[in-house]
Amino acid sequence: MTRVRGLLFGGDYNPEQWPEEVWAEDVRLMAEAGVNMATVAVFSWSRLEPRPGVYDWGWLDRVLDLLHEYGIAADLATATATPPPWLVREHPEVMPVDAAGTRLEFGSRQGYCPSSPVFKQHAVRLARAVAERYKDHPALAMWHISNEYADHTLECFCPESARHFRSWLEKRYGSVDALNQAWGTSCWGQHYTNLDQVEPPRKAPGPVNPSQLVDWRRFCSDALLELFGAEKSVLREITPDIPVTTNFMSILHGLDYWKWAAEEDVVSDDAYPDPADPESHVAVALSYDLMRSLKRKPWLLLESAPSAVSWREVNVPKPPGMMRLHSLQALAHGSDGVMFFQWRQAHYGPEKFHSAMLPHGGTSTRGWQDTLRLGRDLRNLAEIAGTSTKADVALILDWDSWWGLEAPESMPSNRLRLKELLLAWYAPLHARGINVDLARPDEDLSGYRVVIAPNLYMCTAESLRTVTGQLVVGPFSGVVDPNDHVHPGGAPGPLKTMLGIEVDEFWPLPDGVTQETTAGIAHTWAEWIRPIDAEVVATYQGGELDGLPAITRKGDAYYVSCLLDDPTAILSIEGLDLPDGVEATRRENYLFLLNHATTPKKVILPTPGRDLLTQQDLEGEIEIAPRDAIVLKESSDTPVYP
Ligand code: GAL
Repeated sequence: MTRVRGLLFGGDYNPEQWPEEVWAEDVRLMAEAGVNMATVAVFSWSRLEPRPGVYDWGWLDRVLDLLHEYGIAADLATATATPPPWLVREHPEVMPVDAAGTRLEFGSRQGYCPSSPVFKQHAVRLARAVAERYKDHPALAMWHISNEYADHTLECFCPESARHFRSWLEKRYGSVDALNQAWGTSCWGQHYTNLDQVEPPRKAPGPVNPSQLVDWRRFCSDALLELFGAEKSVLREITPDIPVTTNFMSILHGLDYWKWAAEEDVVSDDAYPDPADPESHVAVALSYDLMRSLKRKPWLLLESAPSAVSWREVNVPKPPGMMRLHSLQALAHGSDGVMFFQWRQAHYGPEKFHSAMLPHGGTSTRGWQDTLRLGRDLRNLAEIAGTSTKADVALILDWDSWWGLEAPESMPSNRLRLKELLLAWYAPLHARGINVDLARPDEDLSGYRVVIAPNLYMCTAESLRTVTGQLVVGPFSGVVDPNDHVHPGGAPGPLKTMLGIEVDEFWPLPDGVTQETTAGIAHTWAEWIRPIDAEVVATYQGGELDGLPAITRKGDAYYVSCLLDDPTAILSIEGLDLPDGVEATRRENYLFLLNHATTPKKVILPTPGRDLLTQQDLEGEIEIAPRDAIVLKESSDTPVYP
């Protein structure tokens, strides 16, 4: 991942918020805690380039030298996340404009128009200057481009963005006729005679053309990726051997992370599960599995909260043990380190109440003891760095389909939310310790015993063709083509032959209404389906759909036409018998057992081994304390996958 050995440990370090006297204490305490990497200069543009083209490197030179002196590597940011005031005042057009036409003001962060050539030119100039300055600095271990693309600014509706959108459309469609065809502009009198007439989907009197909306989502993801790419190519040119990352935001609707990850060397993620939600460890496990799946290799948890965050309505702290447990959970799902936002708790600004590795109260706090303890744990676990994860189950996630599914105002029901659909399948698998990969519908899926597409609203003839194991397709799939046009003959379109069914009519259920089936209670959605050559596995019971098929099967291809609380009974895969709240995950021959419950739990180990956290040999039935974990290095050389 980087040249730093073992697992990475550290956090965002913002020394420019502190007098220099504090820096010496920072690095001394970092070394004491075992920190080996710090993310620096994320929001430092205005300090590094206080006037156009005039740089002040002195302070950052000293910070990097100090870090290096203490054996701490730098995940060095290109510092382009927040444009400086001089740039905004000289070129107000670099600030983004919202859908109602208001240009946003300076005074927060990450305010820039993704399509602004002026912003891009200045950002690339700074990235080049930073890279030239530090290319040979011994602390430099990884490049961190910008920060959380799409956070605060995902889209901009200014004239420059409109121009950029039109040129993106021109590349995609070649002509206004092709665009008219793709967008179905014969509906509601939207026929264009010139591409110049096309605008971003600003606030309109009524529902906006859904094909236009899907293209807008594609464009917004691509526009930011272009910006990222512009900085990356400069870094590649100057430091070809330094890996590049940008921090993702877990499962994010706005950016197609498959496309993004292909442009990165290291996938990194920022994850902030809510300590107030007792189930948050399940949803975050799903996003960690996505991070690992994006490149099918170890990734890095680049930001997490040591305790409370500062941006929810109510910011609940992590109770004792939770920070450690959640950190180990990231490792269990393939992260090669644990990093935090941030190192030292701020004294001012919007994040002064956000927790940090070194809290306001200093080294006498519970937080600092937690930091020290995690540092020790990570050193004990160093050997898991680089180990891989094998999964027999793939969950399909496709951004085009997601964008189509969640386009507002034109669907049979607005209650189908992709993250919830994914989680409905993922949670029961997770509860049984079954490793899961996320996958694209058009990649080679032949290595998986089970492939589940909880929903694939948008689908092509290539989708799911390579599945050789069991295939399970969820409702409202195969509905439209990539232009958001319904497939001829209706759903499930190109999946019809594979699944052996036709959908006669979608049957969304009103809020709070349920529908019985022989496979359990359905909620939110049902369908009137007709088998062609599929057998019926379960039927609807009672109500308008009484006796009609709810689940069908043609060979190994299943169609589940409704949403069930636990739909996994039909899967031909066995898991572990785990007590409630215990999570089990494998990386090669390391078995992670994590007890998220507040009571002790007993587990029977599948093989004997040594717990790397306590250095104890364990076998048979063991007890895991509340919010505690075991990382078992199994004695057997042959890993047994659940
Ligand atoms: C992230 C961001 C960090 C910090 C953190 C606080 O979204 O990248 O800079 O603000 O949230 O939780």
